[in-house]
Amino acid sequence: NTGALWGGRFAGGPADAMAALSKSTQFDWALAPYDVRASQAHARVLHRAGLLSDDDLATMLRGLEDLAADVASGAFTAAESDEDVHGALERGLIERVGPEVGGRLRAGRSRNDQVATLFRMWVRDAIVVVAEGVLDVCAALIDRAATYPDAVMPGKTHLQAAQPVLLAHHLLAHAHPLTRDVDRLLDLDRRTAVSPYGSGALAGSSLGLDPDGIAADLGFDAAADNSIDATSSRDFAAEAAFVFAMIAVDLSRLSEDVILWTTSEFGYATLADEWSTGSSIMPQKKNPDVAELARGKSGRLIGNLAGLLATLKAQPLAYNRDLQEDKEPVFDSVAQLTLLLPAVAGMVGTLTFHPERMAELAPAGFTLATDIAEWLVRQGVPFRVAHEVAGACVRAAESRGVGLDELSDEEFAAVSEHLTPAVREVLTVDGSIASRSARGGTAGVRVGEQRTALADHVQTL
Ligand code: ARG
Repeated sequence: NTGALWGGRFAGGPADAMAALSKSTQFDWALAPYDVRASQAHARVLHRAGLLSDDDLATMLRGLEDLAADVASGAFTAAESDEDVHGALERGLIERVGPEVGGRLRAGRSRNDQVATLFRMWVRDAIVVVAEGVLDVCAALIDRAATYPDAVMPGKTHLQAAQPVLLAHHLLAHAHPLTRDVDRLLDLDRRTAVSPYGSGALAGSSLGLDPDGIAADLGFDAAADNSIDATSSRDFAAEAAFVFAMIAVDLSRLSEDVILWTTSEFGYATLADEWSTGSSIMPQKKNPDVAELARGKSGRLIGNLAGLLATLKAQPLAYNRDLQEDKEPVFDSVAQLTLLLPAVAGMVGTLTFHPERMAELAPAGFTLATDIAEWLVRQGVPFRVAHEVAGACVRAAESRGVGLDELSDEEFAAVSEHLTPAVREVLTVDGSIASRSARGGTAGVRVGEQRTALADHVQTL
């Protein structure tokens, strides 16, 4: 017997390359604290089922307590011979309390229900950490919106000048998806809070154990209804990988805006020194590396999701060893977000905007043309005609190389009899923005309400 968890029917140990392939301690050690906690709960369940004496329970809980401390301090680590974290920790327990007591813990439990349970516990803790990081980014966006409540900017579609909007409106448009991501995380937690413990390898337990009790003990909402599903499904992990990838994509889109805004061509904003980097050769450079790493890492998180789905796709029920590949992509996505979220929050929270520059660019590219058309509609002109007339104004202004507001009364009248000098009331950026005052629109009052509502919502998450 090699000391592995399954030596009985084998005459010899695994080949070196077999053992090397099989080994997962280099990454599943992250589950060690959860494994010990779940083992303590399992020991109590065995005791309640009459499978562990009072003395043995006390010895075992003491051994697990020691083991937890040694795992935390780093005094206990995986040995070369350990296949996975579960085997290593059983070895550690036996080293502390002897094989007679330590060897009783595994009754009614398989690594299949064990790893599924521990992974769920890990994901539930990660949900909290990631959600807090995302909310910090939301707070930074809301803070910038509050700092520049009146700043206007050129709104774009197709990256072409479209209509003037408030900067705060645009910043909040990045905060909304992130709050939805937090909603997604909370919703995911409901489905993840189901305990596979007690499912055994796949068929459930014959030992009179109490899956509901252990589920409650470990902070789950319920025990699984189907032991085959509980040991073989990883949709919770795929869903986590999706939400993490979605967060990364949302950060990437925000970052793309920051990258553009901080170019000299746009000149909307300047990055703080502490959230940018220089060039080793070009002394003038101030590079948006945080934003670029966010954009780059989003590709990596999408890959983690795609890889995990591919791992799951053709597996028959129930557990297959393929499932050992489920953890690294999810661990990696969380590790990347843990690095990224505070940096993005820092970068956004310290952006200095240049309202004069944005105000100067806001009407450029004839962005008030829609306002002329809508003014004409309010004078009773059909929109089809109004659109044509406003387009002719653009043509006239363009050919003279002036802005729409620089056309003379005569030039307007020459374009259309409907274009009286009163049209000038909508030919200002401020007038245009103030006029879009329906719910969701860019008018200052609406954006202010939106910001307060979003800040309140963030508080409740
Ligand atoms: N290390 C495995 C995993 O991460 C759990 C072990 C299950 N092994 C087995 N032979 N059933 O999925």
